[in-house]
Amino acid sequence: MVPKTEMDPMQKNTHILVGVTGSVAALKLPILVSELLKIPGVEVRVVTTENAKHFYNPQEVPVTLYSDSDEWQLWKKREDPVLHIDLRRWADLLLVAPLDANTLAKMANGLCDNLLTCVIRAWDLSKPLLFCPAMNTAMWEHPITAQQVDQLKSFGYVEIPCIVKKLICGDEGRGAMAEVPTIVAKVKAILSERGLSAHS
Ligand SMILES: Cc1cc2nc3c(=O)[nH]c(=O)nc-3n(C[C@H](O)[C@H](O)[C@H](O)COP(=O)(O)O)c2cc1C
Repeated sequence: MVPKTEMDPMQKNTHILVGVTGSVAALKLPILVSELLKIPGVEVRVVTTENAKHFYNPQEVPVTLYSDSDEWQLWKKREDPVLHIDLRRWADLLLVAPLDANTLAKMANGLCDNLLTCVIRAWDLSKPLLFCPAMNTAMWEHPITAQQVDQLKSFGYVEIPCIVKKLICGDEGRGAMAEVPTIVAKVKAILSERGLSAHS
């Protein structure tokens, strides 16, 4: 992973930051990033949780990938960049895909104990934040889930709802992450709505 924080003020691209968490749906990170990169005028970076790293090969992710260690490697003394603040400034849109039950709970309650949740805790609410829940059906159906999803929506975040599917664990039911084309279509629609997509 290459920790980079050069933020070019002349940069005209639309900046999409993808947050990836420890759901099995993180297997789709490489294809999700590749599809997002097809949107004209878009630049993509990824922030990963440590648990998400179990599910994808970083060599297959064709953009800069940040994780918790980058935050602390970059900051040694007072003048050094604070990565989560630089990233929330850099990003025009944050897409948390997949959003697992653990990070959902953290987001709903304001916890910020890793790079991704620090970006989210410092998020500028005037910028779009989209989230794609992904979890086992039993987790999805627990009443705490709806409460926490509602809490996120009350902040103005946009849910890309999960779908019914045969899950990797063998269960069939709601809880699978939305399909990649659905996610990309929603990102495009929000960019266009917010006037962020000069090239579409
Ligand atoms: C094989 C495997 C698959 C998992 N899939 C999911 C999932 O789809 N959704 C979910 O909420 N948690 C899932 N988990 C549990 C999370 O990885 C766990 O809650 C973890 O602490 C999440 O950490 P993070 O939110 O920091 O990424 C899975 C765990 C394992 C071992």
